[in-house]
Amino acid sequence: MELNAIADDLVLRRDEGPVALLTLNRPKALNALNQPLLQRLAERLREVGADPNVRAVVLTGSGEKGFVAGADIAEMADYDAATAQHFALIGQGIFSRIASLGKPVIAAVNGFALGGGLELVLACDFAIASQKAKFGLPEVTLGVIPGFGGTQRLARLIGRQNALRWILTGDVHSAEEALRLGLVTQLVEPEQLLPVALEIAQRIATRGPVALAAARQVVDQGWDVPLADGLRKEAAAFGKLFRSQDQKEGMAAFLQKRPAKFLGK
Ligand code: CAA
Repeated sequence: MELNAIADDLVLRRDEGPVALLTLNRPKALNALNQPLLQRLAERLREVGADPNVRAVVLTGSGEKGFVAGADIAEMADYDAATAQHFALIGQGIFSRIASLGKPVIAAVNGFALGGGLELVLACDFAIASQKAKFGLPEVTLGVIPGFGGTQRLARLIGRQNALRWILTGDVHSAEEALRLGLVTQLVEPEQLLPVALEIAQRIATRGPVALAAARQVVDQGWDVPLADGLRKEAAAFGKLFRSQDQKEGMAAFLQKRPAKFLGK
């Protein structure tokens, strides 16, 4: 009974010390995002966000073929305009929550990251991928456009021309191409994907949690504002960190030549 409950869980969670591994678990549909899976993802994000023992998160897909092959086409096919807009807002809201989680989220892309799957990658802090992973925004092949942030985040990340090439062709691209354009930071052998992603997450989890949250916030805030405004935000956040216990501990530990023990306060 309990085993079935675990197998049926649409987003599995496994903790390794301070790192939570979340696995989107709908492999027969290549982890396509239907409403129940999106809601479960939202719950899991809330859960790891609120858990003081979790300091970094790795997000991956179950099965060998799929990270996430997009929003669920069967579910969307009969949507009317208002339902589709609502669905896009729900997906955008859940993905935006990753940015405000206050904890780094690394995507470990094991297979197809298409449509909503690529948009999920774009919402994470950064991504590493299996050499077998495939990337793309094929929405125009279905007569629609990306709805979970793809038109906005991809253009900001890889530039307008490259983003439009991807969005307008709907082509599926290799992992090498995704690496070349900066969508992922590293490619690894498929069997090395989780070990490498978890190792990076473990390393990040030893860093000051208050600083980690501030770093993502300031990078994101600076993404689409003039440099001078971004620099002001950086200085303000830098200053604020000197009110944290983590700053006192981090600098004291360096001066005392010992590892820091951060409390996340
Ligand atoms: N929605 C629903 N079901 C999907 C799916 C999706 N996005 N992607 C794959 N599946 C299902 C397939 O229907 C199939 O189910 P059955 O076995 O019941 O037929 C199963 O997953 C396995 O898929 P395939 O047999 O198609 O596997 P393949 O290896 O031949 O092809 C693929 C893999 C190229 C990824 C192909 O499945 C595919 O093109 N999927 C759709 C990709 C796509 O268009 N994604 C964008 C969705 S729209 C979107 O995401 C909007 C947004 O921005 C919010």
